[in-house]
Amino acid sequence: MDNNEFLQQIQRKHACKLIRNSGLVTPAGIVQADIALLHGKIAAIGCSGWHADETLDATGLHVLPGVIDTQVHFREPGLTHKEDITHGSKGAVLGGVTGFFEMPNTNPLTLTHADLQAKLNIAATSSYCNYAFYIGGSAANLQQLAQLETLPGCAGIKVFMGSSFGDLLAEQDDLLRQILQNGKRRVAIHAEDEARLRQRQPLTTNDVLNHPVWRDAQSALLATQRIIALAEQTSRPLHLLHISTADEMAYLAAFKHRVTVEVTPHHLTLHSPDCYERLGTLAQMNPPVRDASHQQALWQGINDGTVDVIGSDHAPHTLEEKARPYPESPSGMTGVQTLLPVMLDHVAAGRLSLQRLVDLTSSNPARIFGLNGKGRLAVGYDADLTLVDTKASRTIDNSWVASKALWSPYHGKTVTGWPIATIIGGQLVMHSDEILGKPAGKAFCFNSA
Ligand code: DOR
Repeated sequence: MDNNEFLQQIQRKHACKLIRNSGLVTPAGIVQADIALLHGKIAAIGCSGWHADETLDATGLHVLPGVIDTQVHFREPGLTHKEDITHGSKGAVLGGVTGFFEMPNTNPLTLTHADLQAKLNIAATSSYCNYAFYIGGSAANLQQLAQLETLPGCAGIKVFMGSSFGDLLAEQDDLLRQILQNGKRRVAIHAEDEARLRQRQPLTTNDVLNHPVWRDAQSALLATQRIIALAEQTSRPLHLLHISTADEMAYLAAFKHRVTVEVTPHHLTLHSPDCYERLGTLAQMNPPVRDASHQQALWQGINDGTVDVIGSDHAPHTLEEKARPYPESPSGMTGVQTLLPVMLDHVAAGRLSLQRLVDLTSSNPARIFGLNGKGRLAVGYDADLTLVDTKASRTIDNSWVASKALWSPYHGKTVTGWPIATIIGGQLVMHSDEILGKPAGKAFCFNSA
């Protein structure tokens, strides 16, 4: 259907689907109105006189623009005993997430056009939601980066400055500078200083409580300062992933012209030492979950605008792997499915508004990464929607978790706020904790590529 036909159909008021009686979280505020979906797009907001082929009664619910999780590890290919795109994307839609950007530390690493294409091929038949994949920035593909980042389905370049899980590492300033010089798009950065991590590793005892002592706040700050200096020299925009320290948050405020900032639900929700005492190595993550003073600074960044994006950093490992004695236990926890329930619980507790949550999980990801037609409830925008009950009280349980890892650090936690339905391209793909239909996700199209 071309645009004219779409317009004519809108004028004839033939809606395929109407969502009735909900609170729509729009750029103009929360509006109590019906919303009409036609051919995968939002056709009208406030729909008197529209004829519906299908109606969804959403009394008591809010409709958000679809949640986009810009940091997940779905482990396919190569590590599918931990996770795969089928299970990861099932978790996404059960958690109200309509699309994801996936990380390159799979096996093989995602370094070439062929590596990217292999992931896109798998996702085309197995993803329940929309998708894109990062390409790793390394010495091996340095010369190709400018071209690789423009490929369809590529979310951009991801750089690990500190080793975390897998072999992807770009440690030295020379290499980092060259990576930043090759291409234009915003580069996603895992900022922990590898030299300092190596130096401090002997400090590590066999107690996971020491994880944030080994990978300390200074390791994160040093790397963040180094990469920002290089980005300033090369005029390259950055997206700093999972910022975890008060020190970085204070530093970053001076570089908002250059840098967008992500924090994760686990850094906003768990804190040391409590999380390590309760969860042991299940709370082990890089960068580490830190003490309450760091967490407070992250919340300040949420509320003063320094933070742009909440991403889950869904990084599943099996319970057997996590049971290895620290520090052999791998870092990472599941998160894509719990991102929204955990953050809605923070909304219910008054820590941020629903509008700000939409900023952080949908509008900003769409704007920052260049996803045209996504990230807001507005006529002509894609009908990717997340319906939530902000009052529902539910207990997160491992039996609800779709990940192949089969566990969540929030098992047993009661939250207020729950995703009730996930709609992608106008199609209902999840309702009341049930997945409907077959995998039908599509690759994201970026206007910056
Ligand atoms: O804890 C983490 N685990 N942090 C990362 O950045 C990588 C991730 C993984 O892939 O397991």
